[in-house]
Amino acid sequence: MTAAQSKRKYDLSEVLIDEATLKKRVEELGEEITRDYKGKSIVLIGILKGSIPFIADLMRNIRLDDLEVDYISVSSYGRSTKSSGVVRILKDLDSDIKGKDVIIVEDIIDTGLTLAYLKEYFMGRNPGSLKICTLLDKPSRRKVDIRGDYVGFRVEDRFIVGYGLDVEQRFRNLPFISWIKEE
Ligand code: IMP
Ligand code: MG
Repeated sequence: MTAAQSKRKYDLSEVLIDEATLKKRVEELGEEITRDYKGKSIVLIGILKGSIPFIADLMRNIRLDDLEVDYISVSSYGRSTKSSGVVRILKDLDSDIKGKDVIIVEDIIDTGLTLAYLKEYFMGRNPGSLKICTLLDKPSRRKVDIRGDYVGFRVEDRFIVGYGLDVEQRFRNLPFISWIKEE
């Protein structure tokens, strides 16, 4: 059997958030951020790899002249869907965020462990302000007290993929978000 053939099969037919609904909500979040940060210079920090489709769409809906984008990569759950609680920085920021108005852009807040760690980490670099924008929020799974300042959708505790979210690194490319079922 080849590696490709041995990949697990998943049923992605149960769509949770379709493409049009995603597009509309991301536009709204962009408008909200545009209003809140008028006249300011902001840095969006995307958390790799899950935030890529979201941050790409979000930044194009933020109408500010002075906007920078940076990325950080942290270790994720690997092949498991349970949080290990261990956050390791694989790629750090390129830029200095001292004194800047920073917005962390994340795909989903689940246990909150990743963002709690990153918030502390970024605060240590003395930004002017620090907020969190997350596309999805699973509040029922929270292990630490952390919340998004801008939240796209609240979702129940089931594993989802698409629009950046993966299972075993797959399905980030889906333009919609689906519940996942192993076949
Ligand atoms: P936290 O530290 O538990 O909040 O982890 C957040 C990270 O877990 C996200 O950036 C995702 O990579 C991953 N994650 C949490 N829930 C899901 C899910 O339902 N599908 C895919 N990835 C998820
Ligand atoms: Mg992730």
